[in-house]
Amino acid sequence: MAEQITIALTKGRIEKDTVRLLEKAGFDLSFMADKGRNLIFESPDRKFRFLLVKAPDVTTYVRHGVADIGVVGKDVLMEHPTGYLEMLDLNFGLCKFSLASTEDYNPNDHKRKRIATKYPTVATDFFNRKGEDVEIISIQGSVEIAPVIGLADAIVDIVETGNTLVANGLKVYEDICRISARLIVNKAALKNNPELMSFIRRIEAIVGNEEVAFK
Ligand code: PRP
Repeated sequence: MAEQITIALTKGRIEKDTVRLLEKAGFDLSFMADKGRNLIFESPDRKFRFLLVKAPDVTTYVRHGVADIGVVGKDVLMEHPTGYLEMLDLNFGLCKFSLASTEDYNPNDHKRKRIATKYPTVATDFFNRKGEDVEIISIQGSVEIAPVIGLADAIVDIVETGNTLVANGLKVYEDICRISARLIVNKAALKNNPELMSFIRRIEAIVGNEEVAFK
């Protein structure tokens, strides 16, 4: 019997978009329709198993080989860049990383800036590329209030509609990069289970990727 494929999905919107994508690719995922509070699903033919987990944990499951495949945002991959192969840009979950702050922020100010973010690696890399040494203040969420109440001079955060920025009196000073959902794979599993590549190719045909991006 063919080896089972285990797929770790980011709970929430990415999970729903992935299910839709797989159904478009011809896989029957009706066994996941009535989810309730279950976090693990096996297809009736036992070919597939899905784990619903938090975004950063997708990379952990794939890195440890407990999941063969993971679907997670590029934002998370940029913070957790090792231990897997990034195979496909799935072209959903679209947003961007931006540098944002209040109206009175001066990006050209020479003082050492304090930058609040949930993404310290992304923020550090961004300022390193500029040759600018900044103080990174890691926070867990609601990042937009940091410059408003004086915790930081600016933020590096995800912007989707921009509504959260506007609602908190902030604006974008610079876009850092595009973010979308990506398919990642465990390297050893890819080598040992030939079913994995054909599974990935079927998805690739739907998302219309021309190239497979190894990293
Ligand atoms: C993300 C991000 C922004 C918001 C952007 O937050 O950190 O706060 O979404 O979306 P918008 O541009 O459409 O307004 P999330 O919902 O993940 O919550 P968080 O505050 O816990 O980071």
